[in-house]
Amino acid sequence: MCGIVGYIGNNLCKSYILKGLERLEYRGYDSAGFACLDTDTYRINHQKAEGQLINLINKLSDQAIDSHLGIGHTRWATHGKISEENAHPQLSCHKKVAVVHNGIIENHLDIRSNLEAKGHTFLSQTDSEVVAHLGEIISNKTTKDDVINIVTSLQGAYACLLMSSDCPETLIAIRKGSPLCIGLGHEQIIVASDPFAFAGQTNQVLFLPDQSFALISKNIVEVYDFSGHTLDVPISQVDITWQDDEKLGYKHIMLKEIYEQKNAIQATLSNCKQLDLTLWDQLGLTAQRVENLRSLALIGCGTSWHAGRIAQFFFEMICKVPTRVVLASEFRYAPFFHEENTLYCGISQSGETADTLECLRLLNTLDVPTMALTNVESSTMVRETGGFLLTKAGQEIAVASTKAFSTQLVALYWLAHRIALQKKYITMESMDRAHDDLLITAEILENSIEHYRIVIEEKLAPYYAQFKRFIFLGRHIGYPFAMEAALKLKEISYIFSQCYPAGELKHGPIALLDNDTPVILFSSLDERVYPKILSNAQEVKARNAHLVAFVFEGQDELQQLADCVFVFPKVHPLLAPLAMTGLMQYWVYSIANVLGCAIDKPRNLAKSVTVE
Ligand code: G6P
Repeated sequence: MCGIVGYIGNNLCKSYILKGLERLEYRGYDSAGFACLDTDTYRINHQKAEGQLINLINKLSDQAIDSHLGIGHTRWATHGKISEENAHPQLSCHKKVAVVHNGIIENHLDIRSNLEAKGHTFLSQTDSEVVAHLGEIISNKTTKDDVINIVTSLQGAYACLLMSSDCPETLIAIRKGSPLCIGLGHEQIIVASDPFAFAGQTNQVLFLPDQSFALISKNIVEVYDFSGHTLDVPISQVDITWQDDEKLGYKHIMLKEIYEQKNAIQATLSNCKQLDLTLWDQLGLTAQRVENLRSLALIGCGTSWHAGRIAQFFFEMICKVPTRVVLASEFRYAPFFHEENTLYCGISQSGETADTLECLRLLNTLDVPTMALTNVESSTMVRETGGFLLTKAGQEIAVASTKAFSTQLVALYWLAHRIALQKKYITMESMDRAHDDLLITAEILENSIEHYRIVIEEKLAPYYAQFKRFIFLGRHIGYPFAMEAALKLKEISYIFSQCYPAGELKHGPIALLDNDTPVILFSSLDERVYPKILSNAQEVKARNAHLVAFVFEGQDELQQLADCVFVFPKVHPLLAPLAMTGLMQYWVYSIANVLGCAIDKPRNLAKSVTVE
C-alpha cells in the first residue's frame, strides 16, 4: 500500500513531492513524510507527521528545506502501528540513506536480525526499514551491482525509492510487484506510484517493468532487470488531467461524486457505443471467440466485486453465459480448473488493486483470455491484460466508491447485451432498448435523490444515525445490491451493518431482530421474487422490528408494511439496483454526515489497495 513520490532535478523537490503526495493520498493517509538532501551539508533532512498529509504540509510550511533530490510517502499501515517512527521515509544508521516503500518485505524479520547482529540499530517496527539499512552499501560510485545486492536480499512485493547522502546525483527506483512509473520532464524527473502524481507536469511516462530498477539522474534514466541487463523501456504518452478543485461547492467529495452519476453513466454509455466496431479487438477477443464463449469469470474486490455479483444476473439472463463471480483474494490461491472458452474479467475502479491484479497476472501465465473493466486508462490492469473496457466515471476521489459502481453496472449491462447480440440471442432493436433503459434509469437515479433529499437531511438521517447496527436484506439481484449498501454504511459511518439474502433470514439471522436493529430491505421487480420479498418483510414486522423499504411504484402491500419507504418508478427488473443506487448512497452518506464522520477519507481505509 502507500503512495511514493521521488524527485530529481532543480531545487524544487518539496513542492513537486507534496503535490504528488496530495494526489496519491487515496493510497493511504495514516501518516506522511518527506526527505531531501541538503547540498551544503550533504545530510538528509526529513520531516514526518501522523495522520493526513495536511499535518506534514503544516509542519513543513515554516521550514526552508528543499533541494534537487527528495522522496515522499503517504502511508497505509501494514507493519507497525500508526506513529511518526513508523512513518516513511525510513532511515539507515547515521541517516545516510532514506527510503520510501510501498508493498511488503516478507522476509524483513530475518534481514533485521542479521543486520542487528552486525550492529545496525532499528528505530521502527516497519518491514521497510531493512531496505534503508541494506542501502548503506550505496556509495558515490554506486553501480547497478549494489542495487542487485539489495534486491537479492528482499522477498515480497515492493516499490522503493532510495536516496543516499553518499550519492547525491542519483535517485534509485526499484519495482517488484507494486507499481512505479517515471515522469520525464525538462531537466527534472518525478517518480511515483502512479502518473496522477505528475499529471500536468509531464505526459512522457516510462512505466518501470516488473522486477526491474532504475538509476535516475537529472537527465538520464538507466533501467536494468534484476540480473543487471539493460532494459530498453519505451516512453508512453499518458494524457491525464487532475482536477484540483475537488469539492466544487459540495460539502464532501463523496456527495459531489454521487451527483455526478447521471453524467458519468451517459459518458460510459457513449464510450461503449463508440467502440462498437473495435470492441472485440479492444477486449482482446474476436467475434468468433465471443460466439463460442461458454462461461465468464468476474474477479474483483469490495464494491467492484458487488458490481460483478449484480452483473452475474446480466450475463446469465441476457446472454445466457454461465458466470461465476470471485473475490480476487480468494481466487488467487484456490485450485484452478481450466475451462475452454472462458473469459476472465477483472473489475476494478483503479485498475491497481493488488488482489485483482495478481489474479489477472496469474491467468496471463496460464494463457487464458483476460480483460479488465476499469476507470483508469493509464492503470496497470489496462497495460497487463489481454483487453480492456473503460468506465467513464471521471476521477473518483472519495474512498467509498459511488460513480465507479454505477458505471460498472452500466458497462456490464451493455456488454451483456453486446455479447447477446453477437450470439444472435437478441436483435439490434433490443440492444437499442437496453441503451435507452440505461439512460432512463440514470434519470431515476438522480431524480430520486432530489425527491427525498430534504426529508432525509432534516428528518430521516438524524433519526437513523441514532442506531448502532443495521441488517440489510435483498433477494436475487437485490442481494448483492444490499451487500453494497451495507458495505457503504460500514465504510463511511462505522455503524455495524450486516447483510443477508432475505430468504436466509428465517434460518438464523432472524434471532438478531429487536427494536434497536432496523432492517433495510430492497425490493425486486421480478414477478417471481417480489411475493417472496413481501413474505420476508412480514416476518420482520411480525417481530416488531423497524423496517425501511426501497420499493417500486405499485408495490402497495410492501409500502404499507414498512415504517419508512422510498418509492421508485418502475424500470427494467435487471436495472432495479441501478435505479436505487443514488438514493441508497445519499441516505447512507447523510447518516455519516449527521455523525460527523470523515466521509471522504474514512478511518483505516484506502481507495486503492496495492498489497495482497
Ligand atoms: C478498496 C476501496 C473500495 C474498493 C476496493 C476495490 O478496498 O476502499 O472502495 O471497492 O478497494 O477497488 P478497485 O479499485 O479494485 O475497484
